[in-house]
Amino acid sequence: MKSLDLTAYGEDAMVALGQRIGRALPVGVIYLEGNLGAGKTTLTRGVLNSRGHSGAVKSPTYTLVEPYEFDSGPVYHFDLYRLGDPEELEYMGIRDYFAGPALCLVEWPARGQGVLPRPDLQVKVGVVNDAALGIGRTIALIAQTPAGVAALAEIADESDSQTE
Ligand SMILES: Nc1ncnc2c1ncn2[C@@H]1O[C@H](COP(=O)(O)OP(=O)(O)O)[C@@H](O)[C@H]1O
Ligand SMILES: [Mg+2]
Repeated sequence: MKSLDLTAYGEDAMVALGQRIGRALPVGVIYLEGNLGAGKTTLTRGVLNSRGHSGAVKSPTYTLVEPYEFDSGPVYHFDLYRLGDPEELEYMGIRDYFAGPALCLVEWPARGQGVLPRPDLQVKVGVVNDAALGIGRTIALIAQTPAGVAALAEIADESDSQTE
């Protein structure tokens, strides 16, 4: 499976989807794409929830990265919105973050093009306004590596069992 299209109506559904993604991909790289306010950080909160983090999740807009340590290993949350030049990532030692067995979530990955490694999972978030369901989000999950393909299969399995 190469891609999976899902919808989530409301913040809770978005966090729940993030949890599923967090369970399905233990380590690797996730690109989070979509406009400001799309729900990228909300999805990240779900991923962090799945590792045992229950507090707030601040956007590392100025620091570029927020590290989290879990028994299962580190999770690094990047927000590259304010990145001026991908070279700045070299100065902050970006390679160290991606070198070990960590889960790296990257908001605004296009800003780091050429320096960031390719993702296992690419996540594209958009807004949807449904007459019956209200305002929600479309989430396109695209696998870019074998690990990403395996994660997608697991996420799809979980969606099946939830609708049965
Ligand atoms: N699936 C969803 N349905 C409705 N609202 C959502 C959904 N996901 C996120 N939101 C809301 O969108 C707003 C922006 O979310 P945020 O995660 O900060 O966006 P981003 O990090 O992409 O800028 C928040 O108020 C959040 O509650
Ligand atoms: Mg954000």
